[in-house]
Amino acid sequence: MTRDEAYALVREWVHNPNLRKHLLAVEACMRAYARRFGADEEEWGTVGLLHDLDYERHPHLGPGGHPFVGVEELRRRGVPEHWCRAILSHADYSGVPRETLMERALFACDEITGFVVAVALVKGRSLRNVDVDSVKRKMRDKAFARAVRREDLLRGAEELGVSFEEHVAAVLEAMRGIGEVLELA
Ligand SMILES: [Fe+2]
Repeated sequence: MTRDEAYALVREWVHNPNLRKHLLAVEACMRAYARRFGADEEEWGTVGLLHDLDYERHPHLGPGGHPFVGVEELRRRGVPEHWCRAILSHADYSGVPRETLMERALFACDEITGFVVAVALVKGRSLRNVDVDSVKRKMRDKAFARAVRREDLLRGAEELGVSFEEHVAAVLEAMRGIGEVLELA
């Protein structure tokens, strides 16, 4: 499946603009990490783009829901099994452990992108007003974006083997690169 085919599928399954933006943000971060690790940028990006494909149609977290339904659809379309594995592994409850660098990168980029969006929204709706320190400050503010589990943010970077500060900086840079698309330029 090419990136364009994946995006066509996303347009078919995902109509919520925020979820689409989330997928594009994770794609951008995955591309950045693939470049950094000398991996296949197209592949990592496409997995990022597809990872929550089914979330709008099947928001239930578990068997019969996200991400199992999406993976079933992707398997039907013949995407490589290691993509499916990566998508399953970003959900702890799937029971599929994260083993490869791509799997770790996906988990690491998932929640942090949402948190960075939340910070940008209160900073003049611009990623240019967000830096590593402001992200860390907002993480200490328990009332802010309380649905985001701080320990998952930290664990993602740790599993990937990058410092949290480095991780946030990488994510910020990647997201700024598509700031217009995210409407946070
Ligand atoms: Fe996600």
